[in-house]
Parts: sequence; C-alpha cells; structure tokens
Amino acid sequence: MKILLLGYMGSGKSAVGQQLAEVLTIPFYDLDQEIEKELKKTVSEIFQKKGELFFRKTENNVLVQLLASKENYVLALGGGTPCYGNVMKLIQEREDVKSIYLHTSLEELTKRLYPERKKRPLIAHLETEEALNDFIRKHIFERNFYYNQADSKVQADATVDKIVSEIVLQLF
Ligand code: S3P
Repeated sequence: MKILLLGYMGSGKSAVGQQLAEVLTIPFYDLDQEIEKELKKTVSEIFQKKGELFFRKTENNVLVQLLASKENYVLALGGGTPCYGNVMKLIQEREDVKSIYLHTSLEELTKRLYPERKKRPLIAHLETEEALNDFIRKHIFERNFYYNQADSKVQADATVDKIVSEIVLQLF
C-alpha cells in the first residue's frame, strides 16, 4: 500500500507521516522535500523565482513519478497538491493507494501557522493572527471539496502519537 496524507498546511502531515512510516516499517517521503531535491531550491524560492504555476506543474510531475514506483511508502502531500489538475482522480483510480485527510480545526491551524507563516509563501504576507484566520477559513472552504474525497478522515487536532494510532486502527 501507498499511504498518502492530505490536509491543510500545519495539519501535521510530515510529522504524522514520519512516525506512521516508522511504525509500519516502510519508507517515508515528503512531496515538498522531493520537489526541493529535484529543483535544488526551497519551496519559497521556487514560488518567488518561478511562480506558483511552475510549482504546481512540478508538484504534479514529482507525484506522478512517486506513484509509478512499485514500493510501499507513506507520502505527505503538500497542502495544495490534491486541489490542482487531476490529482484526486489519479489517487482514487489507484487500488494500491489509500488517502487519508488529516482534518484540523481552524483555531488549531491558526495557532500552529502564525509563528511560522514567513516560511510559507501563500501566507507569508499576512501580518496579524486575525488576517491569517480569515485567510485559512476561506481557503479551507474551497479546498475541502478536494480533501473530503480522501478514502478516510482523521481528527488531527490531537498529538502525533494519537493521530498515528488512529490511522493504524483504520488500516488494520
Ligand atoms: C502549499 C503547502 C505547502 C507547500 C506550498 C504550497 C499549499 O506544503 O507545498 O507552500 O498550497 O497549501 P505543506 O502543506 O507541507 O506546508
């Protein structure tokens, strides 16, 4: 099985993915890191120098390459990955892929993302916690259409340990 973690920025996809992969003793990949390796630039640099459209095309290509491999793994997608092009269709068509939506409350996302927003190109310009909260609320409203197409959903306001245990319960 390839286990794909979906969810908004700050929902814990990378931390949960890493621990889940350890428990399942399979490799872990982080799509943002794979893109950074391929282009030898950080996500912020790619957005700045090449623009979002270029980032989305690369994101799609790197995902397609990873899905072509035969190995089992846990993969943390980027927050926007499922919302562009044919990604959800691609994932749903595959019998060897299980997609899991890490659902996090607006309050928790705002709290987690505010201190680290400068590292994230889509929210770096938001100066106050209120502005960030407003942005996330509207953005999630649009993105939920895609996230809700995942095979299953877990409540991700909890600790990494709890989220991993819940996913393991769902898998077996
Ligand atoms: C994005 C999320 C980021 C990264 C890029 C765009 C998004 O990934 O891919 O900054 O559109 O939500 P994380 O969700 O891993 O932070």
